[in-house]
Amino acid sequence: MKRQTLILIKTLTWLACLVPLARLLWGAVTNNLGPDPIANITFTTGSATLNLLTISLALTPVRRLIPELSWLVKFRRLIGLFAFFYATLHLATYVALYAGFDLHAMAADIAKRRYITMGLAAWLLLLPLAATSTNWAIRKMGGKNWNRLHKLVYVAAVCGVIHYWWQVKPGVLSPLSITLMLALLLISRPIWTWNQRRKLRLRAA
Ligand code: HEM
Repeated sequence: MKRQTLILIKTLTWLACLVPLARLLWGAVTNNLGPDPIANITFTTGSATLNLLTISLALTPVRRLIPELSWLVKFRRLIGLFAFFYATLHLATYVALYAGFDLHAMAADIAKRRYITMGLAAWLLLLPLAATSTNWAIRKMGGKNWNRLHKLVYVAAVCGVIHYWWQVKPGVLSPLSITLMLALLLISRPIWTWNQRRKLRLRAA
């Protein structure tokens, strides 16, 4: 792929990833964040996190199914970092707007509300992944260890989805579509490995 095309796609990826933030900023500037601005900010940042995590996890299966789209994997790190960025904005919304920086209230919330505990677990799992996302960290850790650590992104995404289910009212099914997508991505991994091994065995026979 040509360098200019890659730069263009990278710019478009940046712009697409910035859309949720731009919507929030525009809503704040125009005083148009809806009847419950805090809920709006929480929803926008929380769902941006989950959507971007899911997209970043989908890139490898897409590359396997359509080898012509292998270049997409070049954008996985950028999309993953944007997921962490929105998760951190989401956490900051909680710390500043829900808990008003009250450490005691936050500690009580973490102990008492399981959806908060699960959300925090998801963010804490993403933290070492964001911290080791540089080329320097990859070189320092070695590809194998880095890959092993970065498998945690699946656990973080599952914690994020559980956190989502645990905080919606009973009967509300809004987390269902992202849960099904994530489940499909999780199942596709072992199926792919099993199929590759089967092909190798058939070739060797
Ligand atoms: C990867 C990490 C996380 C993801 C993917 C995530 C995702 C979400 C999503 C999708 C919602 C639903 C918003 C709605 O339907 O209105 C939500 C709500 C919420 N999250 Fe998170 N979250 C994460 C981490 C956290 C953390 C670390 C905290 C705080 C410690 C937190 C606190 C909340 C709160 C307070 C709500 C709103 C609950 C309510 O409306 O009563 N989340 N989150």
